[in-house]
Amino acid sequence: MPRVALVTGGVGGLGEAICMKLAALGYKIVTTHSPGNARVAEWLKSMNNMGYGFSTYVCNVDDFDSCKNCVDLVTREVGPVDVLVNNAGITRDMTFKRMTKADWDAVIHTNLDGVFNMTKQVMDGMTERKWGRVINVSSVNGQKGAFGQTNYSAAKAGMHGFTKALALEVAKSGVTVNTISPGYIGTRMVTAIPQDILDSKILPQIPVGRLGKPEEIAGLVAYLASDEAAFVTGANISINGGQHMF
Ligand code: CAA
Repeated sequence: MPRVALVTGGVGGLGEAICMKLAALGYKIVTTHSPGNARVAEWLKSMNNMGYGFSTYVCNVDDFDSCKNCVDLVTREVGPVDVLVNNAGITRDMTFKRMTKADWDAVIHTNLDGVFNMTKQVMDGMTERKWGRVINVSSVNGQKGAFGQTNYSAAKAGMHGFTKALALEVAKSGVTVNTISPGYIGTRMVTAIPQDILDSKILPQIPVGRLGKPEEIAGLVAYLASDEAAFVTGANISINGGQHMF
């Protein structure tokens, strides 16, 4: 029986690369998208044309009941989730001076509450079956902070606190919980940064001298999802082209 991997926010960006990599390794892939995502039908078509048979489900990760309904449906229609990749995330970049409570709440609810809301739905099943992987996609900006991202940096740093605490609680049940912290990767989230800021403030800080590739992140996720990674838990693995070392 192939393992079931659920990747939140898999329509495009890092999530798409993660879905493709795990599919190539034989996992059954389920991905989620937010309600009203206009790109889903076209995306599914292009994935089908490339030979990928992904299942997609609507899920508002910032809403607990939506996550519960989604995972209940996935469990019935596809099977219990063996690998959860908490990848869905948003930015509302602006200086703290300009940030409103709504900007703060939106990012915390999606990027941090979303991790609780999704993990809560799958963890009992994983511990009962004595096997599971939770991989939380954080960010270099959760490790070091970033200008214009008090909300995002707080959420991404909080994610790793969650990882460490939960990793302790489920370590004896064959379930690992890890964080990965990508740097600046060539996705829409990064290419939305004003070009002058990217060129003058960000690229010069990356010793490798380029943005990362989504496939490079997907390779790390695939390792953490594998049986070989059973001894890696509670870790926060940096993958940032040397931008931040500690
Ligand atoms: N470091 C230092 N100074 C910075 C800076 C930075 N990273 N970014 C902007 N500034 C400075 C500017 O140079 C400018 O300074 P002066 O007034 O002296 O010229 C000042 O801050 C204001 O900058 P803007 O004109 O850009 O101001 P703004 O209010 O229009 O926008 C901003 C501010 C939204 C923070 C914008 O600069 C921006 O988008 N910055 C990039 C934020 C960022 O890195 N986001 C990461 C997105 S990718 C991601 O999140 C994925 C991941 O996990 C890595």
